[in-house]
Amino acid sequence: MSPLDDLSAARAAIAACCARAGGLCVLTGAGMSAESGIPTFRDALTGLWARFDPMELASVEGFRADPARVWRWYAERREGVRSAQPNAGHRALAAFDRRHPGVLVLVTQNVDDLHQRAGHAGVLRLHGDILQQAWLGRCVAWQRGDPECDPTRAEPGDPPRCAECGNLVRPGVVWFGESLPADALDRAEQAAADCAVMLVVGTSGAVWPAAGLAEQARRHAAKVIIVNPASSEIDDQARWLLRGTAAEVLPSLLDPL
Ligand code: OAD
Repeated sequence: MSPLDDLSAARAAIAACCARAGGLCVLTGAGMSAESGIPTFRDALTGLWARFDPMELASVEGFRADPARVWRWYAERREGVRSAQPNAGHRALAAFDRRHPGVLVLVTQNVDDLHQRAGHAGVLRLHGDILQQAWLGRCVAWQRGDPECDPTRAEPGDPPRCAECGNLVRPGVVWFGESLPADALDRAEQAAADCAVMLVVGTSGAVWPAAGLAEQARRHAAKVIIVNPASSEIDDQARWLLRGTAAEVLPSLLDPL
């Protein structure tokens, strides 16, 4: 089949599941936001993990070893997210969701808020939210149930800290070695098992358990569509591989179904 045949076959599969609640499960990764100017992690030259060591910047151990460096790195990324805008791919997904309420379940590994700003409510966020802050451990004040013990009111600094016990504020993202939010993961796994079509956009498929969702969908007889300009570790799950970027392919795949 030619790439154009693949695109029309994938469109037909999506059209066929439009009448069914939860018929389409979409999993997005960093490539989804690349055209909004947010760097991916594993692209060879531009990816964050090509330039930085993930264990230093995305683990509790790395944060404890150099909290100021890690905090500033996330502060810079937060600024990048705040100044970015949703791209045509985010907008195409949000427009599809408005046209077909309840059909699409959107699961993202991204910690930015571009799906939400494109108009999606109820996105299942597997890896947290970079714009949120959390405590690293349990503060003395938090343990006594003090309502003032709120990370956004911590003593300013790099990173902010609890004035009483010195506990540190950390970014609200999931780091290597940490569990994913259980509710979001359960609902994502359910959506993968229930959907008729799974659309995977802009992920290398290198990080689990998110990477396992495509296989789970395929095992439950869903048709898997992958949108990515390059190969990924989960290409063997795909019925259709659409080689292109999110902002190029999603509008032609979803508009005006
Ligand atoms: P990766 O950086 O591992 O993969 C990005 C994928 O996007 C690659 O397969 C690229 O080929 C593809 N890509 C690049 N530009 C694209 C574009 N314009 N359109 C579509 N695809 C494009 O990112 P993830 O798979 O999301 O964890 O990485 C998974 C997790 O690893 C992330 O959530 C992050 C990271 O450590 C946390 O933040 C907890």
